[in-house]
Amino acid sequence: MDQFKPITWLLNSRARSIEKSPAVAELFPPEIARQTRAFHSRIPGYHISPLKSLPRLASMLGLGGIWVKDESFRLSLSSFKVLGGSFAIYSFVKSQLGVDELDIFSEQGTRQIKEELGDLTFAAATDGNHGRGVAWSASRLGFNSVIYVHENTSQARIEAIENNGARVVVVKGTYDDAVRQVSVDAEANGWQVISDTSWPGYEDIPRWVMQGYTTAFSEAQEQLSAQGIIKPSHVLVQAGVGSLAAATLGFYSQLFGPERPQSIVVEPDKAACLFLSAKRGDGEPHSFSGDLDTIMAGLACGDPNPQAWKVLWDTADAFVKCPDYVAAKGMRVYGVPLAGDPFIVSGESGAATLGALMFIMQWSECAPLREALGLNRQAEVLLINSEGNTDPVDFRKVVWSGRHPVPEPYQQIFEN
Ligand SMILES: Cc1ncc(COP(=O)(O)O)c(C=O)c1O
Repeated sequence: MDQFKPITWLLNSRARSIEKSPAVAELFPPEIARQTRAFHSRIPGYHISPLKSLPRLASMLGLGGIWVKDESFRLSLSSFKVLGGSFAIYSFVKSQLGVDELDIFSEQGTRQIKEELGDLTFAAATDGNHGRGVAWSASRLGFNSVIYVHENTSQARIEAIENNGARVVVVKGTYDDAVRQVSVDAEANGWQVISDTSWPGYEDIPRWVMQGYTTAFSEAQEQLSAQGIIKPSHVLVQAGVGSLAAATLGFYSQLFGPERPQSIVVEPDKAACLFLSAKRGDGEPHSFSGDLDTIMAGLACGDPNPQAWKVLWDTADAFVKCPDYVAAKGMRVYGVPLAGDPFIVSGESGAATLGALMFIMQWSECAPLREALGLNRQAEVLLINSEGNTDPVDFRKVVWSGRHPVPEPYQQIFEN
């Protein structure tokens, strides 16, 4: 029965003993969120993404509030990922030109780049969303892109990337194999890799990718302040390689230090590389082996981003892994909320944290976790809906046809 358990958790009490994380200081300097946001706000079509409140669900679960940073329509690309790819391309181009400022979206800026750098091709490996963001950013600036996907990537995700002007290459194996292959092929072809994960000697670009994500949290802080909330008391963030989670916890650690929100990093049980690394407990990132077979495509990563891991090891209060039915439950609850709460379109990876929060609050076996983190009626919980309907065929299988139901013994958790 153990493999069906909705929530398996691990507390990382070490994080609260770290006064100031060197990894946070290095990756997320104080001014960075202001800079990334200033950049993103110059992108034609940029809007602040909504922060939605689910007060009825919060009350039902015994929480003070649930706030959802809804990235499902970010720049019309259905996920937060474009924030990272676009900022990394911008920062890379600036570094190549040796300038501190560049109006990359003006005609003059584009001309200067072309004249000085010639035709560039950007390459990336992806489970779908990152590649779409890189392809979109490259095509906006008049560059080419080649995006590597693994063999189980759905046709819908491939087409979404191609529709943004990229050539798509399908690689045998998993996301991690695509990461390895793209770096080999890029070297041979003179392409510039824009990866959301790092390896020794390749650290600037993934750092810019992570920094780019902080725009979402800078916006969220402003939106919460407008509601009279200084900061969320808790944040649940979903993780693949851990870059989004590092950006989230890095942002809040930079802003609030030891007063930062309590945090839970959520992964699929079939691809729980950060959970595994925390469990090993030696401070090193560890790879999760297996076929990474999960519906949470954006989180199906077996190798942690080593840079991100350093941040999470120092700042994450708990690691949680959960099976696919937890994410499926989150998708359905977002889509058909309690009367009075807004509906939210959320894909498998986007909804994992809401599903996890529901089980954490309602499954009796999670009481020690709730207690350790102070998840109670005073808690103002921030979730990130990191994607919308990015794979319409699979989305309908879950939301319309009820695939991945909560198994029998756990259904009664929600029946009282
Ligand atoms: C929708 C979605 N959510 C979350 C993530 C996790 O991000 P990371 O791989 O940085 O942990 C991804 C990654 O692709 C994603 O596509």
